[in-house]
Amino acid sequence: MRSSTRARVRCRPGRGPARQPGGTRPIASTLGLATAALLLCSPSAHGQYDMPTEGQRVVLVTGSTSGLGREVALRMANRGAHVIVHGRNAARGRELASEIQATPGSARFIAADFASFDAVRRFARTILADYDRLDVLVNNAGFGSAPDERLVTDDGHEFRFQVNYLSHYLLTHMLLPLLEESAPSRIVNVSSLAQSPIDWDDVMIMRGFSGGRAYGQSKLAQIGFTFDLHEQLEGTGVIVNALHPATYMPTGMVARAGVEPRATIDEGADAVMNLILSEEIEGGQFFNQMQPRRAHEQAYDPESRRRLRELSRALTGVGPGG
Ligand SMILES: NC(=O)c1ccc[n+]([C@@H]2O[C@H](COP(=O)([O-])OP(=O)(O)OC[C@H]3O[C@@H](n4cnc5c(N)ncnc54)[C@H](OP(=O)(O)O)[C@@H]3O)[C@@H](O)[C@H]2O)c1
Repeated sequence: MRSSTRARVRCRPGRGPARQPGGTRPIASTLGLATAALLLCSPSAHGQYDMPTEGQRVVLVTGSTSGLGREVALRMANRGAHVIVHGRNAARGRELASEIQATPGSARFIAADFASFDAVRRFARTILADYDRLDVLVNNAGFGSAPDERLVTDDGHEFRFQVNYLSHYLLTHMLLPLLEESAPSRIVNVSSLAQSPIDWDDVMIMRGFSGGRAYGQSKLAQIGFTFDLHEQLEGTGVIVNALHPATYMPTGMVARAGVEPRATIDEGADAVMNLILSEEIEGGQFFNQMQPRRAHEQAYDPESRRRLRELSRALTGVGPGG
């Protein structure tokens, strides 16, 4: 982690220090980011944001406009990281990015609606174009069990399955080359103890829908994906784990469900930070807060995992063998 004294590097959207085709070092790395910023990122009164300085760790926290993600983003910024803040709500995203200005870190808010694969692809392309490293990816954005209503995404899929799982699957695969180049790096999939098995004859839950079932199958899919990705990433220096952060933290989705909170956001953030920072942790695990825990049996079933891999690749167009 770099020291807290640094020059802020500010860019306009689309003018960041881009990665060069063919894997050559970007000009920002060759000349030093501050110099390159003068060449590439003319400061503007509109749409300014900070870019990382040389050696600064870059962390992407999806769904960091509120709740657990917001707290994790703040904690990483307080440790000096450059945080890519993400969500749909631009007012809350910019407010957090501005709050981070008072920390040793820096931030940039990028909006993307995970109910649209096109939006996720644009989001990933922006990151690949503007950043030459990504040290930590926290796949945290999520839509809870309430309302108890079957919703459909722009792509026509069951809403929780796409927002919570498929879009993060797509984002992660698109960002893998950058995470691998930045190794040692980490991926943290924020899942839940609320896991429901996927009915392979009715993945989009056309029959017997409930918000709880939809949420639970999306969270189980995240864990199966974590186990597969761990095998895929062997030897790359990228560590991937999944966790249940805490039970009923006082966040937006818990309020929408009308449930009385039982845990604090700090408890959940402690568990996520443990998976980001701990030197002892190995990949390919599911944690209940700080403790390794066995997930739902379906997450270990080879046939279910194969079906999930094939479906995910078919729906997103990315993935091993695709
Ligand atoms: N709260 C709990 O007790 C609990 C327990 C277990 C697991 N979790 C998990 O913790 C994670 C964080 O949830 P939270 O409790 O902090 O809930 P939250 O306060 O409702 O935050 C959800 C975040 O996800 C973003 N999001 C939701 N739908 C999105 C979409 N379509 N596109 C892009 N971003 C979207 C929201 O951003 P915008 O509002 O800006 O769109 C927000 O930043 C989730 O994965 C959840 O499943 C929470």
